[in-house]
Amino acid sequence: MNIQPISPVLGAEVSALDIAKPLDAEAVEMLRRALADHCILVFRNQSLTPEQHIAFSRRFGSLAEHVLQDYLLPGFPQIYVISNVKEDGKPVGRAGAGQYWHSDLSYMAKPSMGSIMYALEVPPGRGDTLFSNMYRAYEALPDHKKETLKNLKAVHDFAFTQKTQIAGKGLTKPASKETLAKTPPVEHPVVRTHPESRRKALYVNPGMTTHLVGVAEDQSRAMLDELFEHAVSDDFVCRHRWQAGDVVFWDNRCSMHCAINDYDENDRRLMWRTTIEGDTPF
Ligand code: SIN
Repeated sequence: MNIQPISPVLGAEVSALDIAKPLDAEAVEMLRRALADHCILVFRNQSLTPEQHIAFSRRFGSLAEHVLQDYLLPGFPQIYVISNVKEDGKPVGRAGAGQYWHSDLSYMAKPSMGSIMYALEVPPGRGDTLFSNMYRAYEALPDHKKETLKNLKAVHDFAFTQKTQIAGKGLTKPASKETLAKTPPVEHPVVRTHPESRRKALYVNPGMTTHLVGVAEDQSRAMLDELFEHAVSDDFVCRHRWQAGDVVFWDNRCSMHCAINDYDENDRRLMWRTTIEGDTPF
């Protein structure tokens, strides 16, 4: 396999590798290291069955079943379907998922380490995904800011995501009370250490982080807004232009992402995503 950076900001393309086939331990280790270094890995021209997608994903950890149970692929609860496609008038997946900056499952006590998304259908030239390098966002902060953030924690809350990012947009139905009961607010360090690279990364995101613990409300809002604006500046962001057959593996411990909603209901976009379980951030 070849692993080549795709931009000066983040990301590497892995070529000469068919991920539908079983991988040996050495290949898995190379991919793990590349992921921790580059934040996202792109594999082009892949063709996966659900079983192969799951088998590849499992080489990197146990798979989480998404809390939004209505959008799991029938027979394969490890695959979360993100799509605007309807069959017989019924959505085949969740439309409008992730159209705000976030890191997957940051609202859980043990958020996801990484997600692996396979593009089956994409509207030509539209429906891209933005990724931000949160190592670089942290490293570029002035020392006095790093010092201020050093021991701070932030609250992440799925109910907040529902209220601020989902409600009223008409793209997808809101999460049920039962789902929200399974996802109470959690606290995580504002700066986390990546368990594999040992590098520090900012770990707050506009879609799921509500406030800083022990900081006055208006100050917390101002500090978070400043961090969010900083983290999505051009210096840290790269755009993935999907083609059918792409697989993108992103590391939720050192990146954020945001899906762009620039297509309409006649443009079919169909993605399968596995979500790999992670550890308690430190
Ligand atoms: C997500 O997993 O947040 C959705 C990303 C996308 O659809 O591009």
